[in-house]
Amino acid sequence: MSQIANYDNQMYKELKEIISEKKKIRNPLIEVLREAQAIFGYLPIEVQQFISSELDVPLNKIYGVVTFYNFFSMKPRGKYVINVCTGTACYVKGAPRIIQMISEELGIEMGETTKDGQFTLSAVRCVGACSLAPVFVIGEETYGRIETKAQVVDILNQYH
Ligand code: FES
Repeated sequence: MSQIANYDNQMYKELKEIISEKKKIRNPLIEVLREAQAIFGYLPIEVQQFISSELDVPLNKIYGVVTFYNFFSMKPRGKYVINVCTGTACYVKGAPRIIQMISEELGIEMGETTKDGQFTLSAVRCVGACSLAPVFVIGEETYGRIETKAQVVDILNQYH
């Protein structure tokens, strides 16, 4: 049985504790989903079902939230998520070009993960570094003023 389908495993125990804690706050769903994604790395339907029964929220509501927010993913994500900023300043200064360069370099489209599980290509709204536009973010690091593919390749190589 896969880890995800086995409600007895440690990850679900941890999530169950978090849910009983978060139940005390108002509208805990987003918080619980964030925590669940941190534990599992993504939010497959099995995890959503578990949250639905533990939190007593209908599954279709949970599914609606997960698919609405870009931040949540129903597919496994890579070890590193490359978030390309597509806010206005970055968009104007070349976000689509950055997406294309990363996509070519890694052989994946937006939203996809490399076969080796290393990278996921994703997009985010303004990350508050507009003066460095165009930017992308990996983990806590923000990379700005990206103009050439060589820059992109250099940065990605640091994560191999
Ligand atoms: S629009 Fe990209 S950092 Fe603000």
